[in-house]
Parts: sequence; C-alpha cells; structure tokens
Amino acid sequence: AATHRYTFNVQMTKVTRLCKTKSIPTVNGQFPGPKLVVREGDRLIVKVHNHINYNVSFHWHGIRQVQKGWADGPSYITQCPIQGGQSYTYDFTVTGQRGTLWWHAHFSWLRVHLYGPLVILPKRGEGYPFPRPYKELPPIMFGEWWTSDTEAVISQALQTGGGPNVSNAYTFNGLPGPTYNCSLKDTYKLKVEPGRTYMLRLINSALNDELFFGITNHSLTVVEADANYVKPFTVKTLVISPGQTMNVLLNTAPNPVSSAYTMAIAPYTNTQGTFDNTTAAAVLEYAPSTTTNNLPLPSLPRYNDTGAVTNFSRNFRSLASPQYPARVPQAVDRHVLFTVGLGTDPCPSNQTCQGPNGTKFAASINNNSFFRPSTALLEAHYARRYAGVLLANFPTTPPHPFNYTGTPPNNTFVMHGTRVVPLKFNASVELVLQGTSIQGAESHPLHLHGYNFFVVGQGFGNFDPVNDPAKYNLVDPVERNTISVPTAGWVALRFFADNPGVWLMHCHFDVHLSWGLSMAWLVNDGPLPNQKMLPPPSDLPKC
Ligand code: C2O
Repeated sequence: AATHRYTFNVQMTKVTRLCKTKSIPTVNGQFPGPKLVVREGDRLIVKVHNHINYNVSFHWHGIRQVQKGWADGPSYITQCPIQGGQSYTYDFTVTGQRGTLWWHAHFSWLRVHLYGPLVILPKRGEGYPFPRPYKELPPIMFGEWWTSDTEAVISQALQTGGGPNVSNAYTFNGLPGPTYNCSLKDTYKLKVEPGRTYMLRLINSALNDELFFGITNHSLTVVEADANYVKPFTVKTLVISPGQTMNVLLNTAPNPVSSAYTMAIAPYTNTQGTFDNTTAAAVLEYAPSTTTNNLPLPSLPRYNDTGAVTNFSRNFRSLASPQYPARVPQAVDRHVLFTVGLGTDPCPSNQTCQGPNGTKFAASINNNSFFRPSTALLEAHYARRYAGVLLANFPTTPPHPFNYTGTPPNNTFVMHGTRVVPLKFNASVELVLQGTSIQGAESHPLHLHGYNFFVVGQGFGNFDPVNDPAKYNLVDPVERNTISVPTAGWVALRFFADNPGVWLMHCHFDVHLSWGLSMAWLVNDGPLPNQKMLPPPSDLPKC
C-alpha cells in the first residue's frame, strides 16, 4: 500500500461566473478543489493550512475512519475548527472501501466552494466486478452557484429564519454552461470516442437540491453507489441526492449522428416554496464542435416527479457477491425510530422572521433540534467529560405522536439540545427514519458519518412496525452512507455499530443542517485493542 501526501492551502481566490466576479475560499486556488486518487488500503496524509479569515475543517465524505474519528472532520463534532492562520493534518487509511467518494469543508456552508473528488481504485491487480471500461472519465461534481457573496446568502438564511435565497445556477465541475446568460464559455466538456464503454463518476455536491441527471440519446448503467458495488441496472435518467456518489458505465454511440450531445441536471423537489428550478447543461463531445448552445436537452422528469424518483431508487441492490458480500444484520439488538422534519421556533422579539406565520424555521429529529456545542464532542467523549457539553438522552422513539397520512403532522414542536444516542460496541441497529413533512414538502437526504448502512426497506405514509418489516430485503439491500427519506414516507436502515467514536448524522441539505436536522451517535469502545478509539493527534485544533 502507498502513502499519498497532499497539502491543502485554504486561500481566497477570485472566480468569475455568470459575468460576476467574487472572492471565494479555495484549496490551492483551484475550484472545484483537487482530485485525490488512491487505492484501497492506501494511506492519505492531508496537511491543511488555513490562510483565510474564517474557520474551516474538512470531511472525507463516506470514509469510515475506523478508530480514527479525529480525521472525520465535522466542526464541533470530531474536532474544533481550524482557525485562520492554523494548520491540521488529516491522516487516515482507506480500508475495506473502493469507489467514488468526495471531500468537502464541514464548517457552516463553506462546502459550497470547498469540495473535490476522492477516487478509491481497487487494490492493484483486483479489477472491477464488471468488464473493464475502456477509460475512466474525469469525475463530474454537480454544484450550485450564487452570484452574491456567499456569506451574505448564509446570514440571510440564518438570520431571517426563512429559506435561503435560491442559487443562480447549477454547475458541472463549477461551470454553469450554456443554459444561463453570460455562461457559454463556462461550459463543461467531456471528450469521448464512438463505440466505447467509459466509467463516469458522479458526485452531488449541491447545497440544497436533489438532482436528476441524463444525457440526450444515451443510457447509463449504474454499477456503484457511495463506494459500494451494486447489481448493474440501466436507466435514461438518474437521481442523486446531495452527498451521494454514483459510478455509471456510459456506452458511447458507435456511429454518432451528432458531434456532441447534452448532459443536463435539474432539481427534484416537492417544496412549495421557491427553489432554483433552472436546468444546467454540459457537453458530451465526440468531435470538436462549435455549436454547443443549441443542442437538444435530454428530457428529464418534472421537478416534482416523486414517482420517477421512487422507481429509480427501487433499482438498487448490493452486488452481494462472494468477493463483495453484503453483511446485513439479520437480527436487531436496538430498534430506533426517528421522525425527521421541519418545525418552527418563535421569532425573537427584536427580529422579523420570514418563516411560516412570522416564525423561524427549525428542523429536528424526534423533535430535538441539534444545538451546536462549543467544543468537540469526540474530545469530550474521549476524556469522559460530558457535563456542560452533551446529554446522552436523545429520544430513540418519537416523544410526540405523529400521523401525517391525510392530515398535517402535529409533531412540529421543537426542543433544542446537544443530545446523543449511546450505542454498545457492535450492537446491531435498526434505524427507521420517518419523514414528517407535510405532503408535498421535501425529502431529506440523511448522511451518517463513520458508517455505511443497508437500506432494508422504504415506503410511503406511516411506517408500520408490524407489517413493514416482513417486506424487508435482508439479502442484497443497497449499502450507502446517504439516503433520502422519501417525501411523505420512511426508510429502514440497518448497521453494526462496530466503529467506536462520535458520529454525526444529518440532513445533507445545508439549510436543514443549520436549522438543526442533525444528531450524533456515541459508540463505545469494544473490548479488544483494535476496537478502541485511537488517541487524538497532537495538532488537533483547540476551540
Ligand atoms: Cu458530506 Cu456531514 O457531510
């Protein structure tokens, strides 16, 4: 196994999009940030120097960080943020994972600009469990762009208690492309040859939007999700939530009739408020072509087509082969039911709030809106000093009755606190996430740090603890780190709590994360030396 060393200099860089220039934080002046490529089993040492006047920390989204929570990165959870002028080295080994993941900043909404791909190739000589693609294409990261100053966007959202101003564009690797004014020259192009099979790695790094993706006249065969192989399936359009990654095989046309085709992304949302309903395009180029602005767009589902999303998500099955078995917990030690959704807080008397009926939006899990601590939870746990930092009484069943089939939910009441759920080492956990959004509101892409989970079931309406478990897939359910709780529905997940530490779980819509749709699991050490957290690195930042 190899060791890869990278230096991340976080600095301000001027970037122009849509005819407006602004200064954004970047890694080494690059936007999107550098692509990291390793093989399974390799070690990564990333030295971060923060040269900006703002806190930062980095998360390696989907890396399990076994025994090494110190390298996970969410600010105030596994570390204090790296302050301006300070440095921190993330040092970790990629074990038992291969595929596409990504890295992003994990302080406030800084990930809007600070993100990049993390490609994990199979071990040398191991190959893929499908015919070897002709070539790997550069990864594509979908994103969002605001022309206004991003700090202003964040404070607008957080201070008014309403939703954020919608973004001005979606982007392919930071480029909005030909569907927006003043953006034709900022079009992402992917060069291909006819009659070949390519590997394409897709990452949704958008802040607040699930996206449809398709390519005119081409199909896509999904082979991997969140760095786990799946049984291949072929679609025209795929759906990808913020945080999720997907590898697809793209067969190019043997005799293309056009020298170029359009790739497009557009949002999936059921939200009734305002959202960015634009479509961004990029170009799949068979031969250099000058006319990229009038190519037909692929037909994507309508923005609120929940049926298309459901059909798409039903395709996912773990490969579950002898070489890549699906270790699905068959028995359950710990049943947990979480409601996830939006609620409201009263508006402080010295403010005007833009949430429903003049309130402030709050978001919660089991009615607990996560309150950001002032020190890192993992340090408190390691030192067994919980007082004044966290409470180990996060409710594992909904404290208020809910029933939203037909009527709006009555559990939008919100309490605030830094609460965690303690778990015994290696407990087998079943977690049901019940969306309580009023019919027609959004789904929530929930991301679990430090783990993958198996998605054993999903459905609409209220989860039925008697009849729904009988329909679970305990044979080859998909294994992921991020799953969307369907609009007006639920998902059931299972995992073994075999990684000690403090692990954040949250909605990967940054606006919901800021509103408190987040919690942490506190997984205790196991008895053996390789089941215990390792001590913190000496340069761990101080709060
Ligand atoms: Cu991709 Cu906690 O984040």
